[in-house]
Amino acid sequence: MTRCDRTATWAALQGHFATHGSRFDLRDAFARDAGRFDALGFEAPGVFADLSKNYLDAPTFRLLIDLARECDLEAQRDAMFEGAAINTTEDRAVLHTALRAPRGCGLFSREVHGVLNAMLAYAETVRDSASSGIRHVVNIGIGGSDLGPQMVLPALQAFVHPGLQFHFVSNVDGHDIASVLGRLKPAETLFIIASKTFTTQETMANAHVARVWFESRGGKDIARHFVATTTNVEAAGEFGIIRTFGFWDWVGGRYSLWSAIGLPIAIALGADQFRDLLAGAYAMDQHFAQAPLPSNVPVLLGLLDVWYRNFHGAASRSIAPYHQGLKRLPAYLQQLEMESNGKRVDRDGEALPFATSPVVWGEPGTNGQHAYFQMLHQGTDLIPVEFILVRRPTFGSAGLDPVLLEQLERQHAMLLANGLAQSQALMQGKTAEQALADSPPTASKQLDPLTLAQHRHFPGNRPSTTLLLERLTPHGLGALVAMYEHRVFTSGALWGINSFDQWGVELGKALCNDLLPRLMAGGSDNADLDGSTAGLINRLRG
Ligand code: F6P
Repeated sequence: MTRCDRTATWAALQGHFATHGSRFDLRDAFARDAGRFDALGFEAPGVFADLSKNYLDAPTFRLLIDLARECDLEAQRDAMFEGAAINTTEDRAVLHTALRAPRGCGLFSREVHGVLNAMLAYAETVRDSASSGIRHVVNIGIGGSDLGPQMVLPALQAFVHPGLQFHFVSNVDGHDIASVLGRLKPAETLFIIASKTFTTQETMANAHVARVWFESRGGKDIARHFVATTTNVEAAGEFGIIRTFGFWDWVGGRYSLWSAIGLPIAIALGADQFRDLLAGAYAMDQHFAQAPLPSNVPVLLGLLDVWYRNFHGAASRSIAPYHQGLKRLPAYLQQLEMESNGKRVDRDGEALPFATSPVVWGEPGTNGQHAYFQMLHQGTDLIPVEFILVRRPTFGSAGLDPVLLEQLERQHAMLLANGLAQSQALMQGKTAEQALADSPPTASKQLDPLTLAQHRHFPGNRPSTTLLLERLTPHGLGALVAMYEHRVFTSGALWGINSFDQWGVELGKALCNDLLPRLMAGGSDNADLDGSTAGLINRLRG
C-alpha cells in the first residue's frame, strides 16, 4: 500500500493543480461542455450523485483515479471485505459490511444472522404493545451507541410504530436523563443499555440512574425492562441484565447501527423494514466492491475529499440535507468521518506531512440558509457543500387530509427549489456590475453605489455536490449511510491512516478519572496540576 504523497500521481496532481486546477472555474466548465451534467452524474444504488458542480475536469478526474490505483485502493478495500486485520493498532478486522450481507453471503454469517434473527424476533414482541405493555423505549448510549439510531429514527419517522415513543439519553449531564425520566412510568418503559464496551462512563452512569429510578418508582422485573446491546455480555450480566444482544470487536462503534446497536431501530420499524435498511446498505457495499473506480460513487466522493482537502486547502465540508428527517445526519457524519479520519500519523506511526479529515458540519435546509449560508456565499473560506435532496416526500403515509397534503406537497417543491437555488447561487455568484443594476429596499441610500455593490457581490465558483434520493425509505437511507462509510474508507486509505481506531478519545477520559475525585473531595492539594486547571477546580468547588 502506497501513501498518497509517495506516488508519482501525487506529484503530477501538484503540477496539474499549479498550472490548471487552482484556476478552475465552474461557470466556464459548464459553458464549455453542454454534456457536463451527464458526464459527471453517477448512479449508485438508491443515490444519484451530481458531481458536476465540483472542481473536476477530465485531467483531474483521470489523475484522481490514477491516484486511487497507485494507492492500491482496490486491494485495501478487498482486504476490508475479506476480514483482514486492517485496524492494525487494535489488531482487528473491520467487518461492518458482514452485518448487512444476506445469510450465507458474508463472513461470520451464522453468528450475524443468529443475533439478527433473535433481535428482530424480540423487537416484534416489544412492538406488540398490547401484550408487552411497552410505550416508551429509552436508549442509553453515547457516540456510536447513540448517534446511529438517533439519526435513523427521525429520518424514517413515516415508518415508526405510532404507539411507541423513543428517547435517547447520552450525556453524562444528569439534565439529559432527568428530563426523560420525568415523562415515564416503569411498567411502560424499556431501557436499552447500548455500549460496545459496557464500560463507558456516561452510559454506565445513566444506566445506574435508570435502574435506581425504576426501582424507586416501584418498577418490577428488571429482566423484562432492561436489555443490553454490547460485546461485553459478562459486564451486562454483572449489571443485572439478563437479555443481551451481542456483537463483535470487528464492528467499530461508529459503524455499529447495523448490529445489535440497531435494536431501537428494529423496534421502531419492525423486522421487515430493518432488513430493508440492511439490504440498502448491502446494495451499496456491492457497488463499492464491484463498480469500476471511475463510476464508483463512494470512491469518487472520497477522491474529491482528497482533492479539496490537500490541494484546494478546504478545511471543512458542510452537509445540507434538505429534509427535516435528516436533522441528525450531520452529527452522525461528524463521528463517522472525524473520528475515523482525524488522524495525524500514518499506519506506520509516521507524522503526516498533509492534512486529513476536514471538519464536517451542517444543519438541515432551509434552516441553515438563515444562519450560516451567508459565510458559504461570501465568506473567505472555500467550503464545499453537500446538498441532499429527496425527490418524493413521505407524508402520504400519515393519513392526512387531502387539502393539507396538497399544501405539504407544495412545500416539498419549495424545499427542493431552495436546495437547487443554493447550489446554483454558490456556483453562479453575482458580479458587482449585476449588483449595481438592482437596488434592494433595505440598501443604504447614503452609501456610494459602487461600495454597496462590493458588499452585494458574490464571487461564486463555490463547489457543491448534490445527492439525490428517490424517497427516504429504509432501503434508501441504508444505501446513503453505507455510501458515506465507504467514502470515508476511500480518503482514509489514500491518506494511509488507520480509519478504525480512536486513540484520540483516551487522554481526556484518563484525565477526567484523575480530576473527578479532586473536584468532589475538596481541600486536596492540586499543586501538581497546571495553574488553569487547579484554579478552575478551586472556583468550581468554592
Ligand atoms: O470514546 C469514543 C467511543 O469509544 C466511540 O468510538 C464509541 O462509539 C463511543 O465511545 C461509545 O463507546 P461504547 O459503545 O463502548 O460505550
